[in-house]
Amino acid sequence: MAYKPNDFYARKAKSENFAARSVYKLEEIDKKYRIFKKGQQILDLGAAPGSWSQYASTAIGESGKILGIDLKPVAIKLSNAVFITSNIQEFDIQLLVTAHGFKEKFDVVISDMAPSTSSNRFTDQARSYDLSITALQTAIRVLKTGGSFICKIFDGPDAKSFGDELKTYFKLVHSFKPKSTRKSSKEFFFIGLGSCF
Ligand SMILES: C[S@@+](CC[C@H](N)C(=O)[O-])C[C@H]1O[C@@H](n2cnc3c(N)ncnc32)[C@H](O)[C@@H]1O
Repeated sequence: MAYKPNDFYARKAKSENFAARSVYKLEEIDKKYRIFKKGQQILDLGAAPGSWSQYASTAIGESGKILGIDLKPVAIKLSNAVFITSNIQEFDIQLLVTAHGFKEKFDVVISDMAPSTSSNRFTDQARSYDLSITALQTAIRVLKTGGSFICKIFDGPDAKSFGDELKTYFKLVHSFKPKSTRKSSKEFFFIGLGSCF
């Protein structure tokens, strides 16, 4: 199916000044699982162009703080967010956390990371799985006990084992495909609640 840049959610995002239509996926997840609260510290992996951080910024308020990381720069400015342009697979997250004045532990880690897609869906799934594992390893390092984790993954043979692995780290694990996800997309999200590490 062809990409439709001007679909309902893309137009809505533009009219509501969000950087991307992805914001509505996070909104659906938050409405269903009640992830964000005022004053939380959030780590946003794969933050560019910035719509998830925009949503989280409002949800956590001025007393909260977001650290966003992406290979690409994030152009939007948010008073309670710091954006770093970097490859999450190539640096030590803890050094970054302290260098930018964040508390050691985060309340929520969100990952909307996705690989650049190729013509081979197996390659894309494998790369998505790899990014999901990186997101989980990062969450294990920085999440508070009782914290929440949202992670995008492309459906495929590895996705179920990723969900099973999450069950060893979180009290509750849900899989969810927001209705704002494009029909042609193979992506869905795992939501881990109540980290127990
Ligand atoms: C779907 S976009 C994220 C959209 C974002 N959540 C928003 O709402 O604006 C996926 C992002 O993952 C980023 N990404 C992929 N691999 C990454 C890596 N190794 N480190 C950091 N970011 C990565 C890409 O650069 C891309 O911007």
